[in-house]
Amino acid sequence: MNSSPSVSNPVELDPTKLPAHVAIIMDGNGRWAKKRLLNRINGHEKGSETVRAVVRTCREIGIPYLTLYAFSTENWQRPKTEVEALMTLLKNFLLSEQKELLENNIRLRVIGQVERLPAKVQQALRETMTATENNTAMTLILALSYGGRAEIIRMVQEVALRVKREEVDPQAITAELIAEHLYTRDIPDPDLLIRTSGEMRISNFLLWQIAYSEIFVTPTLWPDFSREELLEILKDYQSRERRFGRVDSQSVK
Ligand code: IPE
Ligand code: IPE
Ligand code: MG
Repeated sequence: MNSSPSVSNPVELDPTKLPAHVAIIMDGNGRWAKKRLLNRINGHEKGSETVRAVVRTCREIGIPYLTLYAFSTENWQRPKTEVEALMTLLKNFLLSEQKELLENNIRLRVIGQVERLPAKVQQALRETMTATENNTAMTLILALSYGGRAEIIRMVQEVALRVKREEVDPQAITAELIAEHLYTRDIPDPDLLIRTSGEMRISNFLLWQIAYSEIFVTPTLWPDFSREELLEILKDYQSRERRFGRVDSQSVK
């Protein structure tokens, strides 16, 4: 897909009201394949093309942070063949996208239990993260073997250790201190959380960080999700009033 934004962008977005961070639960690859009597793996392959299109679109319109939920801590319980296929797809995606990330000044980061991933995936991640570490136009964050509860447990363990060492007074534990011990340490909280495939649930994604995210659930299956639909969702986001617990006359943005 090589469409120029001016031609294929019928949605007028307000450049001053773009979300700084969009997070996406990419769901529905299996159902997309099933509908076509294909293997679930074919759905994941098709889904990786959507990833490409969505990364490009976010980069073009100037979204600073994009987080994609690609594999959860619970997804390890899927059949071994599916997990292996997903890992191979991920490794190939990282290798094939490196050039595009470099050309577009996109930095890659990962959140999750990286140490549980196969060595080849870890290596591809390290290579791509190192190659792109000085890029500044956008940060693409892949959530891999990611679980919100596991992230919170890890944070509590780190903070408890600091308390035990008497580096931190329990009274000095603030929201800021907690945030510093999460994988997302220097990343702003998502302004917009999108889930494809219609399920009205969070599935253990960014539990702490989505406290005030605007949520958008679309019935579209991830492989069918498009640039056009993303632009429509961003338009909808711009029409919302974010109150953060205050009353409307005080609302932020
Ligand atoms: C999302 O699609 C991809 C991953 C969770 C890895 P699914 O594989 O969950 O697809 P459905 O939900 O079964 O349709
Ligand atoms: C959420 O999708 C995880 C990812 C998109 C990586 P799932 O398909 O695993 O979630 P559930 O099982 O429907 O909650
Ligand atoms: Mg699913």
